[in-house]
Amino acid sequence: MKLRFTILLIAVLFHIGAYAQATPDKQSSGKILVAYFSWGGNTQKVAGHIVSLTGGTLFRIEPEKPYPTEYTPCTEVAKAEKEADARPAIKNKVEDWDQYDVIFIGCPVWWHTAPMIINTFSESYDFKGENSYSFLYLCLDLSG
Ligand SMILES: Cc1cc2nc3c(=O)[nH]c(=O)nc-3n(C[C@H](O)[C@H](O)[C@H](O)COP(=O)(O)O)c2cc1C
Repeated sequence: MKLRFTILLIAVLFHIGAYAQATPDKQSSGKILVAYFSWGGNTQKVAGHIVSLTGGTLFRIEPEKPYPTEYTPCTEVAKAEKEADARPAIKNKVEDWDQYDVIFIGCPVWWHTAPMIINTFSESYDFKGENSYSFLYLCLDLSG
């Protein structure tokens, strides 16, 4: 458990460090959104750590149709979505998207990549703010 979080946090802290270096003048003024999708809770925990380090606003990406709670059925749905290049609907929306300067997007690795719902999310918003930054972090489970 400890090892897993150490490894996850190294990646996250690297990104936060990169942000701090890239935006020395914005560190105190930039508004941060920490959006995440999590099926089993790991990404949610990391998102909470990022919020506690940055003071960002937490946003949970919620699928309109919940994924199966059992692991194998969930992998089957995820695989079918990947093969179909699907865009699973998201039931909630980020309020006032334009107020954010920095966006962290967190998700688990599903079938060697991000779940398709992350594509839905990233295609739903304008990431072209002139001075804005976005970071994608993927959570693996290295405890086993
Ligand atoms: C549908 C599904 C597919 C997965 N595919 C992979 C994979 O390709 N490679 C991998 O290392 N882990 C894979 N995993 C494990 C998750 O990436 C890992 O458990 C992650 O920490 C889960 O994050 P979460 O608790 O926020 O959902 C998969 C898990 C699920 C449920």
